[in-house]
Amino acid sequence: MTRRQRLIVAVVLAATFTFVAVAFAAAAKDSYTFDAKNGKVTFNHKAHADKVGQGKCNTCHHSSKGDGSDAKGCKECHKAEKGEKDGKEVPAMKDAAHKKCKGCHEKDAEKKAPTKCTDCHKK
Ligand code: HEC
Ligand code: HEC
Ligand code: HEC
Ligand code: HEC
Repeated sequence: MTRRQRLIVAVVLAATFTFVAVAFAAAAKDSYTFDAKNGKVTFNHKAHADKVGQGKCNTCHHSSKGDGSDAKGCKECHKAEKGEKDGKEVPAMKDAAHKKCKGCHEKDAEKKAPTKCTDCHKK
């Protein structure tokens, strides 16, 4: 390869890696559905993330950085049954969700956030 060809290859590779990085950072879907046996819960990720704000993604993604760039699905750690990590109890998904989701909803001053079972769980 000539130096010019090597340069072109380097530029193309750099552009590819930048593209891949951006694609991963934008990996959150607008909406998620939790398949609970007592009724599906639809979670509007976009509305929640906008309301909580950039830089505060770890309000929910507590194991991640504030910008959420390393956010993971809750179920990577929170399973159907409670578990243990480094001597600490890892709550079951149901309890983690109720504590996090319902916990914040109960504090909503405008009372717009649902707290009744069937407001979240829809058959
Ligand atoms: C109100 C809570 C909440 C806030 C705020 C929030 N997220 Fe999420 N996010 C979730 C939940 C719940 C999921 C779905 C997780 C699952 O499927 O287990 C999710 C999923 C994701 C995923 C996909 C993870 C995967 O591996 O499937 C990414 C990426 C993500 N969020 C990034 C962000 C970023 C960036 C922000 C801030 C701008 C943010 N989130 C703010 C709750 C939140
Ligand atoms: C990388 C693993 C991991 C991921 C991903 C994760 N958690 Fe956790 N979570 C833990 C561990 C470990 C604990 C117990 C130790 C502690 O309290 O930090 C915990 C504890 C909790 C608790 C109880 C303690 C508290 O903060 O009140 C809640 C609620 C919770 N997680 C909600 C969530 C939600 C909601 C998500 C997805 C948006 C999530 N977690 C994603 C590992 C994780
Ligand atoms: C940091 C606070 C906070 C957390 C955490 C949070 N929410 Fe909310 N949520 C709100 C607020 C505030 C509203 C009311 C939004 C409005 O209409 O102004 C809301 C509205 C909703 C609604 C009804 C409106 C809609 O968007 O469909 C559902 C359903 C909902 N949340 C589900 C969830 C679930 C499931 C989780 C956990 C994975 C969660 N929320 C976590 C604050 C929160
Ligand atoms: C703010 C929304 C919200 C409210 C309010 C709520 N839940 Fe949930 N619930 C969830 C989410 C999210 C999950 C996690 C589902 C999963 O594991 O994917 C869940 C999980 C569950 C599960 C486990 C289902 C399964 O298939 O493992 C049960 C049972 C449950 N909820 C019952 C209730 C009851 C009873 C109430 C009222 C006292 C209630 N929930 C109120 C959001 C909510």
